[in-house]
This record gives sequence, structure tokens and C-alpha cells, in this order.
Amino acid sequence: MLLHLAAWPEVEDYLKRSTGIIIPIGSTEQHGPTGLIGTDAITAEAIGAAAGDKTGALVGPTISVGMALHHLGFTGSISLRPTTLIAYIHDYVLSLARAGFTRFFFVNGHGGNVATANAAFAEITAEAAGGIGAMPSNRPEIRCKLVNWWDFAPVKALSRDLYGNAEGMHATASEVSVTQYLYRDHIKPVPAAGMSPRIAPVSHFFGAADYRRRFPDGRIGSDPTLSRPEHGERIHAAAATAVADAYQTFVGET
Ligand code: NI
Repeated sequence: MLLHLAAWPEVEDYLKRSTGIIIPIGSTEQHGPTGLIGTDAITAEAIGAAAGDKTGALVGPTISVGMALHHLGFTGSISLRPTTLIAYIHDYVLSLARAGFTRFFFVNGHGGNVATANAAFAEITAEAAGGIGAMPSNRPEIRCKLVNWWDFAPVKALSRDLYGNAEGMHATASEVSVTQYLYRDHIKPVPAAGMSPRIAPVSHFFGAADYRRRFPDGRIGSDPTLSRPEHGERIHAAAATAVADAYQTFVGET
């Protein structure tokens, strides 16, 4: 059940059987010459929704804009500052906690969100427990967890089989395939001359301008010309199963 398609009495009923919720979190940022700018939000949303279908979990609205300051050298990218994203996650979670939700399971589509989301979780769990100096209490414990959909072993094995060392770190072949599966009408043509180099370079970077200088077309380590919608269907299915299992474990944990 998607929260934004539910009426409030349905959410009250849901809370009688579960206090867990799945929250997709992504980003709105360049994904190389052929990847959709919404890739990270689109993939997290679809995989989160599919995991919700499998488990009966409620799925919250997608956090579509994330921490992508390093992509701002490319037109169309949008970022929150880390402090803004912390405040956003804080307010989102505590609004639902007030109603009785206690288990917040974030399905993440963007590596750049990880550090900031975990900082937000530390703030939230401390505050929900009554603040940094609080004495132990019997109020319900708030737990937040974030998983990257591409990090599960079966998903990694599939992308390794399909793309080998051309999977890459950004504008990956697998994430582009998942968006091709979900939005076939928006598959971008590969430039006639291909991409150069075929597999993009890999290195560290400092800030948005340095990122663009080191990775002129936006890719890191990937060859998304290998992406196919049929691959995306398989990757999406593997990720949805893995995310659903991890959610069940999370909400079942004492
Ligand atoms: Ni991405």
C-alpha cells in the first residue's frame, strides 16, 4: 500500500498490524549521457514499491532529491545540502513516529545519501529517546535502517554476470537498465560514436567542478551502452526480493 494513495483510516488500520514503513530515497542528478536524471529516485521508488507489494508493508512518498552536491556541475542536477537532508528525514520520520510508526526502512538509490541519512538516523533515535541526556524510558524505540538496493549479493552477482567490470560506480549499467525496463518510452539513443572511453575512468574527486573535469560525460567506471530493458526487469526483480527479505528481518528483529 502506498501512503499517498491511502486514506487516513486505512493507515490507522495498518498500524494495528504493523508499525513498519518502507521509504524510498533517491536523487535527482546527472547519470551520464544516456541515463535519466531521475534514475536514483525512479529505481528506489520502483524497488521499494515492489518490496511493499511482496510484504504488505506501507510505502511512504519517495524522497526524490538527495545529497548530490558533487553532481551540480551538470545541468539539471538538484541537491539538498547535508543539513537540509538531515532536517527533511528528521521531520518525515518524526511525523510518522508521532502516529505510532517505529520501524523506518529506507530503500536507497544513491550512494551520496548514505552518510547524511545515517547522520539523520543518529539525530532521530537520540531525540525520539528523549534527547541526549534522557534517562532510560519505556517509550517505543524508533529504529531507522538504510539499504542500497544494488548492494545485495544476488543483485551484485547478476550485474557482475551481465556487465563484468563495465558495471561501474555511477551511471551504472544496471541502474540504467532498471530505468529502461520501467520507462521504455524514455530510453535514450546511444551516441553513434559510442561513449569514449568505452568504460569510464575511476578515481576520487573533490567537489562539483573537479568531478566534471575528471569525468567529462558524468559516468564513473561504467559502460551503460550495455544496458537493456530485459536486464532491468531481472535486476529489478532480484532487488525487490532481496529488499523484501531484508525488510522482514528488520521489522521482525527484537
Ligand atoms: Ni545512480
